[in-house]
Amino acid sequence: MSESLATVSYIGATILFILSLGGLSNPETSRRGNLYGMIGMALAVLATVFGPRVTMSGIPWIIGAMVVGGSVGIYAARVVKMTQMPELVALMHSLVGLAACLVGFASYIDPSVQLAGAEKAIHEMEIYIGILIGAVTFSGSIIAFGKLSGKIGGKPLLLPARHLMNLVGLLIVIFFGWQFLHAESVSAGMMPLIVMTVIALLFGIHMVMAIGGADMPVVVSMLNSYSGWAAAATGFMLNNDLLIVTGALVGSSGAILSYIMCRAMARNFISVIAGGFGTGGGAPAAASGDAQPAGEVVAISAAETAELLREARNVIIVPGYGMAVAQAQHTVNEITQYLREQGVNVRFGIHPVAGRMPGHMNVLLAEARVPYDIVMEMDELNEDFPDTDVAMVIGANDIVNPSAQDDPNSPIAGMPVLEVWKAKTSIVMKRSMASGYAGVDNPLFYKDNNRMLFGDAKKMLEEVFVALKA
Ligand code: TAP
Repeated sequence: MSESLATVSYIGATILFILSLGGLSNPETSRRGNLYGMIGMALAVLATVFGPRVTMSGIPWIIGAMVVGGSVGIYAARVVKMTQMPELVALMHSLVGLAACLVGFASYIDPSVQLAGAEKAIHEMEIYIGILIGAVTFSGSIIAFGKLSGKIGGKPLLLPARHLMNLVGLLIVIFFGWQFLHAESVSAGMMPLIVMTVIALLFGIHMVMAIGGADMPVVVSMLNSYSGWAAAATGFMLNNDLLIVTGALVGSSGAILSYIMCRAMARNFISVIAGGFGTGGGAPAAASGDAQPAGEVVAISAAETAELLREARNVIIVPGYGMAVAQAQHTVNEITQYLREQGVNVRFGIHPVAGRMPGHMNVLLAEARVPYDIVMEMDELNEDFPDTDVAMVIGANDIVNPSAQDDPNSPIAGMPVLEVWKAKTSIVMKRSMASGYAGVDNPLFYKDNNRMLFGDAKKMLEEVFVALKA
């Protein structure tokens, strides 16, 4: 393939990636967005493999690597459960970071690169920064994977003088950066490069270890952003414009998403990165002082739930992580359809961090074919709860916890929540009194107008549906 054809293909792929991101911003256009992304990626891969910079002898290596990588990808995509998606994403981010590090070291020792003067300095700066971002992304994502999969505890690790440690680490990185740029030979530059890599790896571990469970969603999208910048840095090292653009797209969209999520959780972005947030000042979650939930919970049966729904005019369903675990979305849709046929106004209230990944609930509801126009963002219907007869909370906990508003000592204090307790009756469907992801007690369960429907969400909803139709 000629240089100009490869360039045209790269531009085409870039446009398709931008269209893809645009499409993914709305559930109705998201399929098209995905398609654009797939075509763009196929075009990008073909233009790279058959482009002018790959020699014939390199093609078998690339194809071999693609077969191995593609097989692992297909296998992972097939076996991973929807609820394990964030862990898989974190693992994939770590691979982007690792790739940036390896490409950085490879381009530094590549004997065919003979540069001098400013060009050499710029190339080495790209390598240094690329490896720095890559190493932070790599180790941070591995720890995020451990935390999300429960292999590492969710409690933040709060080392004494951690901010000072980070600052000293940064100063050392700058110092060795200067040494690296002034190294006489490749072997002399290796030492500062390796020291910086080790510090960056430790920084990545420390950064994510210090983040409280409740702030993990922000960290996942932040690492997504880092992986984009790592890919862009790789693009600079390899002189590949498409990789630079794609990396920048991922990096900036990840940064915007992190910002939106911070706003949704009333968190300060910088504080989340600095760590220690989501801890309630380090106090154990359940022992957060004054606002200990008190009173009795009132359990309800599936038949009684059906009765309440039958009599309701306005119903808001709030799905959470438990709906995903139980795979209850299809039964939710059947109940929704049935109620709507009976003239009940049913809507869904989606919290920005419901479930375990951005858009988790939207994906599940779209899969079950719940109409998009009744799926609303939290801000769109939070004021409507006082006019709602029944608020059905399906496997959600943290996102409907009133202590976020009432208890300043709560680890989730300040996080906007869906105010289901303002409805005439709220019904919480879950298996037990256990807390949610943030490990916080929920006073909603004890409110006078709240009822608990205990059991697996899918099983209980099926019983509710049978009772509704009876
Ligand atoms: P959670 O607060 O984690 O609560 C989920 C509830 O579902 C649990 O209390 C659990 O109670 C119940 N449950 C589990 N399996 C169930 C089943 N089979 N049937 C019925 N109920 C079941 O979830 P949420 O309200 O969706 O809030 C999300 C939390 O995850 C937030 O703290 C958020 O910060 C965090 N988080 C979010 C993300 C993103 S990006 N969305 C990423 C990482 C973390 P039982 O055990 O009693 O059944």
